[in-house]
Amino acid sequence: MGTNTQQEIANRRTFAIISHPDAGKTTLTEKLLLFGGAIREAGTVKGRKQSKHAMSDWMEIEKQRGISVTSSVLEFLYDGYHVNILDTPGHEDFSEDTYRTLTAADSATMLIDAAKGVEAQTKKLFKVCRMREIPIFTFINKLDRQGRDPFDLLEELEQLLGIRAYPMVWPIGMGHSFKGVYNRHEKQLECFNPENPKDIDIISVDGPNDPTIDNVIGDEALVEQFREELSLLDIAGDAYDVTQIAAGTLTPVFFGSAISNFGVQTFLNHFLKLAPAPTPRESSIGLIDPMTHNQFSGFVFKIQANMNAKHRDRVAFLRITSGTFKRGMSVKHARTNKTLKLAQPTQFLAHQRSTIDTAYAGDIIGLFDSGSFRIGDTLVEGTSFTFNEMPHFSPEHFSEIHVKEALKHKSYEKGLQQLTEEGAIQLFRTYNSHLEKQIVGVVGVLQFEVLEHRLKSEYHVDITLTRQPFSLARWVTGTETDMANFANKQRNLVTDREGRLVALFENDYQMRTAVEKYPDMTFHENSFFQ
Ligand code: G4P
Repeated sequence: MGTNTQQEIANRRTFAIISHPDAGKTTLTEKLLLFGGAIREAGTVKGRKQSKHAMSDWMEIEKQRGISVTSSVLEFLYDGYHVNILDTPGHEDFSEDTYRTLTAADSATMLIDAAKGVEAQTKKLFKVCRMREIPIFTFINKLDRQGRDPFDLLEELEQLLGIRAYPMVWPIGMGHSFKGVYNRHEKQLECFNPENPKDIDIISVDGPNDPTIDNVIGDEALVEQFREELSLLDIAGDAYDVTQIAAGTLTPVFFGSAISNFGVQTFLNHFLKLAPAPTPRESSIGLIDPMTHNQFSGFVFKIQANMNAKHRDRVAFLRITSGTFKRGMSVKHARTNKTLKLAQPTQFLAHQRSTIDTAYAGDIIGLFDSGSFRIGDTLVEGTSFTFNEMPHFSPEHFSEIHVKEALKHKSYEKGLQQLTEEGAIQLFRTYNSHLEKQIVGVVGVLQFEVLEHRLKSEYHVDITLTRQPFSLARWVTGTETDMANFANKQRNLVTDREGRLVALFENDYQMRTAVEKYPDMTFHENSFFQ
């Protein structure tokens, strides 16, 4: 591999921001893009969210609700790095897409509202990051408003998420009395100026006891509190440990105010140095390391339909895992063994789509798709292999599905298959019941509307959805005898598309009862267990 290619790959940082709606993800993304010069003025990302144009302007539901149903990719260049941000839907009603997007990220930034702490959706997304053992960086936002005690927040990370924290910076005051942060690593004071937040004074000091801090902050009580807190951190806090950060067991924590663009650049500078370059991936022929595997390979982690309502096109998002992509190159589609020419790939600079000629491991490219791709498909140059299967995650809402007009059965089946392959829904079949029924599972309830809408508009099929009382799915494994015994006794069993047995539960209690009753069986939260 040429040193140039190696350098290109080494400079890439591909990450996702995980947060609960309203924590400030759009705002933070916008500020990050501003640093990269990828957008000219603040408000561009926000505009995308509010006026719903460009990439997310692809579905009427999005327009009606004013939310982004799908996730996209944004990229920018900064300080010699090529940064790819995998955007995840901000709405509460997110889909499995959001989880899958995380499988294409090499690291994650967890954004937390200082007043609210760890919220429900952050917890769910964190679990996926944990499963993948990727490094997680934390940005605690909205310090310009009164929030919770920073120590409380750190404790919550440990209690609710089970991750240790290392504050890279420490706040001095909060809300009205927010004075800025002390950067423990650089030993510098970064001062917040509420009148002109963009004007950040950075003052090098000789540690937290430097009298300069007293002079600059000018509030005796605050400085005293800051020193006490910092010495507590030094004595009782976790040590800085890059190995643990890389393993995702220790999260570097930053405090700031995204809206004031305060603390964002400090975060970005540290993040880029600590976050991994494109990482190796497991495959059917072993680990594919982008630094040593010269040939192009990648996997499809998301399929987005009708991104442009006028053209009704479908885009498969491919994460390049090794090698160099060149426009027009021929690759092998591992599942079908067909050769494909990648003629019209797109890349995503801020909110624009543009055709690209070259891309490297770590990058995400969009491939126009006329229905030949499925989630998890591998594309390779040279000897064919496949990346490990893309996991399915437990849906939280279930409905029995029927086609209204029997004559339309063929289109209905075709539509369902397409939507399942795209990963928009999970389709199950009842097991052990007299009459086989089809059950649709989704992570966010809005997906039912998406399903109805798309079957109607793309396949001219009307359906009936009857909600089922379940809220959890567990993929079940065990010995043949145990499985047979379990399947005989348990109701509410279904099989997934691959024929694997899945148990559906109404609530946690019901699931725990089953787990206790069948101690020899394993109940998996996602299909990642092979
Ligand atoms: P999201 O994408 O995570 O859903 O959050 P978004 O960036 O849209 O931010 C949610 C709200 O929080 C917005 O206010 C935004 O202005 C505000 N916000 C983001 N960062 C900060 C911060 O550092 N400090 C403070 N005080 N607020 C912040 P909104 O009223 O919902 O919208 P808008 O009227 O400001 O656009």
